[in-house]
Amino acid sequence: MSANAYPPVKIGLLGLGTVGGGVTRVLTRNAEEISRRAGREIVITHAAARNLDTTTADLAGLKLTGEALEVVDDPEVSILVELMGGYEPARSLVLRALANGKHVVTANKALIARHGNEIFAAASAAARMVGFEAAVAGGIPIIKAIREGLAGNRLAWVAGIINGTANFILSEMRDKCRDFPEVLAEAQALGYAEADPTFDVEGIDAAHKLTILASITFGIPLQFDQVYIEGISRITREDVAYAEQLGYRVKHLGIARRGVNGVQLRVHPTLIPQRHLLANVNGVMNAVLVKGDAVGQSLFYGAGAGAEPTASAVVADIIDVVRTLTADPENRVPHLAFQPDALSDLPVLPMTEVETACYLRLQAQDRPGVLADVTRILADRAISIEAILQKEPLPGAGDVPIILLTHEVQEQRMNDAIAAIEALDSIRAPVTRIRLEPLDAVD
Ligand code: HSE
Repeated sequence: MSANAYPPVKIGLLGLGTVGGGVTRVLTRNAEEISRRAGREIVITHAAARNLDTTTADLAGLKLTGEALEVVDDPEVSILVELMGGYEPARSLVLRALANGKHVVTANKALIARHGNEIFAAASAAARMVGFEAAVAGGIPIIKAIREGLAGNRLAWVAGIINGTANFILSEMRDKCRDFPEVLAEAQALGYAEADPTFDVEGIDAAHKLTILASITFGIPLQFDQVYIEGISRITREDVAYAEQLGYRVKHLGIARRGVNGVQLRVHPTLIPQRHLLANVNGVMNAVLVKGDAVGQSLFYGAGAGAEPTASAVVADIIDVVRTLTADPENRVPHLAFQPDALSDLPVLPMTEVETACYLRLQAQDRPGVLADVTRILADRAISIEAILQKEPLPGAGDVPIILLTHEVQEQRMNDAIAAIEALDSIRAPVTRIRLEPLDAVD
């Protein structure tokens, strides 16, 4: 079909920050190819932003306003692209746009993770689409891959490096012994970090993305509140180095795994084998590993943040929407991969029931019997030790670090063991626990 057979589709943008600038540039630069793909010309006609002083967007020909509602309520706009971020007013504006008959494309993972169930219900009622490819892993088309490309599989688990800032920090700690605040400042300057960088460092951003991945992987409602979340702020350079000596690398992973009794949803620092491809994803790059019964393990790798990588996903969603403007709403790809009336009520397991192997780092007094006390506590709880390292005291410190790797153990049993170890007089600081995932091809 010729791109001129229909009039151009008009886009209204909310937000002209890093990603908004990227979207205007990509849509302009690749306009010809995009209209060949979409079958229509796509033009940004309206944009709302609070502050235009720092925008890199090409503003020529745009109807600009400081008031988002003017875009949301303008009948000329067919697709609203929400790039403001945050929960509110994004939620209200998106719901209003759907009620006004507009399709929506958003890069807002927080919004989808927390309010996606409500938003998708509203979209279905209005027979409109909500695209959210850019909400997970930036430029990697992981939503499309799982929702469509892997649709023939029963998916067993998904494990991803889905926060570029945290991966950048861990990579720099390992490679260059740089300090945490300095690396974080660099990630902020490059536009990778969230407005509130604790979202990156404490795992909230990764949990938003994992919530979305889990829903499209297993066909369950979005359940952000059920995700176990642990960030990277307690990981030291020494932990990273000890893990290396044991043949592992520390990565901040989001993991969703289907078990017999329910689904595990967890975000935490994780030891993974050094030789695994995922262990070699460095800097701000993201990667998502998916295990399906038919396909086996598939790894999706790419830029997880930044203006144009994220714009790549936003523009792909816009093209998807444009292609289906004339399609029967009942036959579009469902938002959460499974038909809305076929979502499963599979329970999310409490973290205490999850089983993983563990890395433990103890700060112990250097005197006879300490190791025996620790191993007795583990033995009493049937926790089996896989490896043990006792290091020289750090310069100036009287205590010695003891590092243990355990076999798989239920979280609750390990919680009890850690509490008993921390109660020993000879243990001088809280125990550091990092869960371990072998990421085996067989599980
Ligand atoms: N703050 C996010 C990250 C940006 O560092 O990955 C992309 O969602």
